[in-house]
Amino acid sequence: MSTLRLGDIAPDFTAQTTEGEINFHEWLGDSWGILFSHPSDYTPVCTTELGTVAKYKEEFNKRNVKIAALSVDGVESHHGWIKDINETQNTTVNFPIIADEDKKVSDLYDMIHPNADNTLTVRSVFVIGADKKVKLIIVYPASTGRNFDELLRVIDSLQLTAYHKVATPANWKNGEDVVISPAVSNEEIPTLFPKGHKEVKPYLRVTPQPNI
Ligand code: BEZ
Repeated sequence: MSTLRLGDIAPDFTAQTTEGEINFHEWLGDSWGILFSHPSDYTPVCTTELGTVAKYKEEFNKRNVKIAALSVDGVESHHGWIKDINETQNTTVNFPIIADEDKKVSDLYDMIHPNADNTLTVRSVFVIGADKKVKLIIVYPASTGRNFDELLRVIDSLQLTAYHKVATPANWKNGEDVVISPAVSNEEIPTLFPKGHKEVKPYLRVTPQPNI
């Protein structure tokens, strides 16, 4: 078991998946990545989650994000379950599902929370940047399906703030105004933010989203 924190290098591993063996870092290449765990195959919430991710694949592609799911069930089980997901969610699962039967990856990413469930993975989400560093960790309990619109929203924020000296305010959505990073001096603002800005308070300076 290890504790992973934001800014750490995402642990590398080799694992069996529904798309063959992958080496995680090699598989990521220059892309961003999402690694997300679910408790078990053939369960209702997980079925809806994986179907939803399959439908969102194009949105992840647009953001240069590769996506891999994981549970502690085996490849055979995953393949059987994928048929059910495709049938019931009216989709085609189009991303690898890792078969972590020996819990090697779950342990590396601390995806088993014994006081919630001793053997099954919780619903962890790790967003990994192109530099292989962990950019976001979210953990949900088994009983709550994830909001994948929120994941797209966070990725938009992570990618924007990685390349511009801004941060995104509460409930921000792609296209809305952003706040200028506190590290930017007032003198730098006209060069960095030619679209203009509004100073609400000296520490709260708002500007149109710079990359659109
Ligand atoms: C589900 O995916 O539906 C689920 C999995 C484990 C516990 C509870 C629900």
